[in-house]
Amino acid sequence: MPDHLPTRLWQELKRAPHDRHHDWRTPILATQGIDQSGPQARTVVLRHADASSWSLRIYTDARSPKCAELMAQPLAQLTFWSKRLNWQLRVSALATVDFDSEQVKAAWERIRQSRASADYLSRVPPGYIQPSGEPAAETTRDSPLRHHLAILNFKVSSMDWLALSQDGHRRARLKPDGLLEWLVP
Ligand SMILES: Cc1cc2nc3c(=O)[nH]c(=O)nc-3n(C[C@H](O)[C@H](O)[C@H](O)COP(=O)(O)O)c2cc1C
Repeated sequence: MPDHLPTRLWQELKRAPHDRHHDWRTPILATQGIDQSGPQARTVVLRHADASSWSLRIYTDARSPKCAELMAQPLAQLTFWSKRLNWQLRVSALATVDFDSEQVKAAWERIRQSRASADYLSRVPPGYIQPSGEPAAETTRDSPLRHHLAILNFKVSSMDWLALSQDGHRRARLKPDGLLEWLVP
């Protein structure tokens, strides 16, 4: 049993963005779909975790459907699974979509030098049907002055931790105010 569970969880969350092999680097982000499309879940990369404010950060294309979904319904969930730890973490959070702040500008200054910049420069928005009709046609890129990077900020409201073990599974609910409740797994 981790000595101080919240501290251990944030230790792993803070490590994940900097460690390509950390399972928690790629959580599943679940949102509520628009127009009765039902729940929408997809893999994303965790870019930043801040233990003092209980917040997480993800980068995306500002035109991707998840941005519109989060603006319509900011309640979201991020689910992390670590095979190494045998831990699942379900993070409920309130999302804000940041299109044009100093934070976005600073992130773009770092990304624009890298190959990942292409992810935020496609002229055609993500999810559009390929104009060519081909599976992976080369997309036209916008100039780096017209990037589409947005930052999704998640203010964590509660975490549901599940630890699988042959000695017996354990589960707890944690909140930013320090609440920790043990749940039946
Ligand atoms: C390993 C992996 C990492 C991904 N990371 C991101 C990411 O950080 N941000 C993102 O917007 N999409 C990421 N994607 C793509 C999303 O899963 C998704 O396909 C895309 O963002 C479109 O989502 P939407 O149409 O629901 O907005 C990743 C996919 C994989 C497989």
